[in-house]
Amino acid sequence: MVNSYNLKDLVYQLKPKAERRQKPLADDELMAFGKMFTDHMFLIDYKDGNWINARIVPLQALQIHPAAKVLHYAQTLFEGIKAYMHQDNEVYLFRPDMNANRVNRSADILAMPNLPLEIQIAAYHALIDVDRIWVPRQEDASLYVRPNMFATQAEFGVSPSTTYTLCVTLSPSGPYYPGGFNTPIKLLLTSLYHRVAKGGTGQAKAGGNYAASLRPFEIGRRLGSKQVLFLDASGIYVSETGAMNIGTIDADGQIVTPPFTDEVLPGITTTSVLELNGKHKLKVIQEPIRLDEMVERIYSRTITEMCGFGTAASVSSVGRIILDTHDPLSAKLLQEEKIIMEDGQPTLIIGNGEVGEMTKHVYTVLTGIQRGKIPAPDGWLQKVERNFSD
Ligand SMILES: Cc1ncc(COP(=O)(O)O)c(C=O)c1O
Repeated sequence: MVNSYNLKDLVYQLKPKAERRQKPLADDELMAFGKMFTDHMFLIDYKDGNWINARIVPLQALQIHPAAKVLHYAQTLFEGIKAYMHQDNEVYLFRPDMNANRVNRSADILAMPNLPLEIQIAAYHALIDVDRIWVPRQEDASLYVRPNMFATQAEFGVSPSTTYTLCVTLSPSGPYYPGGFNTPIKLLLTSLYHRVAKGGTGQAKAGGNYAASLRPFEIGRRLGSKQVLFLDASGIYVSETGAMNIGTIDADGQIVTPPFTDEVLPGITTTSVLELNGKHKLKVIQEPIRLDEMVERIYSRTITEMCGFGTAASVSSVGRIILDTHDPLSAKLLQEEKIIMEDGQPTLIIGNGEVGEMTKHVYTVLTGIQRGKIPAPDGWLQKVERNFSD
């Protein structure tokens, strides 16, 4: 058994063959995003300054000490990568090197150890190779790859852990939002809550950032929104949503997305769309978006579309921005007559509220590249080699 990415000393402790999945997922077996898991997971531990004990084992609950620092102080980071089944019946990872880099960037921000890129990438390849039968063949589906590093030292003192585990699990997934690409989503705009702050951990995929986003997420969910649109801590600029970067689209097709500040995660989807600027009829720039200007331009229809960018949700169309009536921002915007009341909810309709042409175009280009239907720029796709056989 050879591993082309050279993860030395990787140990395979696999389920007996008869207990592993035997057939590709049928349409009625495939679930929505992140609910289904494959047969195996990858684990590696960090101790005494070294990463040790790399192994692929059956997916199982982990044993963790109740005083483990991750459980108390949220010293944990994660990633999200996708692998796609192409027409040639081979599996391709989309830009996993970028995610591996971001693991280490997040680790720096959270005072956690770096894990060499080649080990991370080798781990993704090896695990997918073992569980390749699980990679969905369906149109809108993919295999979501979730690395997660967490602090395991059992001690109550507030200081960085001395020990860690990195775990990689795989989830065959359908669309992130149940309606799929053709159903525009609503965002809850809030001036009351922030998930990150200047000088904080916004550039990291830190577990705590997501915990901080859940209270407004719940408020939004009750009002029918799928994501919360956060402002930066000054309240002047639009930053991003809880799980996606955002882009506004002008009537002439120009896409504008906010810069990656302390308060905006440097998204790989957004970076990829920015790198496609000037190709495939895409015009994309990164520029701060002032909330007041954005509202005015949506109202006056110079901004006609809005979309979200992220690995899990790909490119998503945003049809409406809603506000909570308890948010003072909603009273201000209603008074300025920049928003309307729709179904009892302060609402800003973007364009005609439907999926816009440019949003559809970016979606088609990006997913076309990811799924091997449009030639990918050099290095964007990594084929998962068939090294594993037993
Ligand atoms: C807060 C946040 N912003 C943006 C993104 C998009 O990043 P990417 O395109 O790398 O998935 C994500 C998802 O990973 C996210 O959680």
